[in-house]
Order: sequence, then structure tokens, then C-alpha cells
Amino acid sequence: TVRVGRVREIATRLRERRGALLPILHAVQAELGHIDTVDLPVIADVLNLSVAEVHGVVTFYKDFRREPAGRATVRICQAEACQAVGARELADHARQRLGVGFGETTPDGAVSLDEVFCLGNCALGPAVQVGERLHGRVSRARLDVLLGEVSR
Ligand code: FES
Repeated sequence: TVRVGRVREIATRLRERRGALLPILHAVQAELGHIDTVDLPVIADVLNLSVAEVHGVVTFYKDFRREPAGRATVRICQAEACQAVGARELADHARQRLGVGFGETTPDGAVSLDEVFCLGNCALGPAVQVGERLHGRVSRARLDVLLGEVSR
């Protein structure tokens, strides 16, 4: 498929890098949106690893999405400064509201929920990024509004 060919190109381009697997996975996700099951044997082949090794790394790091991303991505900062002003509670609220955890997408494909570690907006925590837009001092009520906008 086109996808597999593209994955092979990316992997081949980055294979000489030190610890090439992570840069390759990041590049595949950046370009193709997620790491698909069909990508694993291709990457394994290029790097001379077993599929199990590649799979292990993909599942170990929470950064990697295993299914296509939702139409909107909501990222909630969980780094220290935001945690101090309620980012964990905000994340609980989001999980409950959407019915999915971090790294997951709502069954209707509308929203992917992600955690992120610092959005560079620490003075205005809790920080939340919806698509490309950054929001500061996000309360639960404000989050409800933001989620309502993208859940349609
Ligand atoms: Fe949340 Fe920096 S800690 S934006």
C-alpha cells in the first residue's frame, strides 16, 4: 500500500540515526497520524529488529497513537506548574466527560485526548491545547465549552 511504502521511505531515511527507532516512530506518527499495526514489520525489517521489539517500544511510550487520530486533538498539560493549579483534576474531568483515557480517541472519531508535558504556558495553567490553539487557566467549565465545540 501507499502507507507501507511511505513508512519504508521514512525508516530508510532515518535508519542511520543513533537509536533510530524512536525518531522513525515519531516521524511516521507526525506524517501519517498514528503507528499502524501494518507499519511494525516494515520498520522492524529496515532496522533488523524483530516485530516484537518494535511493538514493545510503541506500546511502552505513551506518545504513540495506535489508531487514527480524532478530528480534533485535545492535549492537557500534566507538567508540574500546571499540576500545581489543578491539571490532574482537569484531566480526570476530561476523561470522564469524553469516556476515553489519554492516548485514546472517542468512538465517534471526534476527539483524541492526549497528555503533554509543558506547553510553554506555565504562568497561565492549567494549559490546554485544542488543535493548534493554546488556552490558559482552563477551568472545568471552560473545558466543557471547548470539548463541546470539538465533540460535534
Ligand atoms: Fe503546563 Fe508548562 S507546565 S504549560
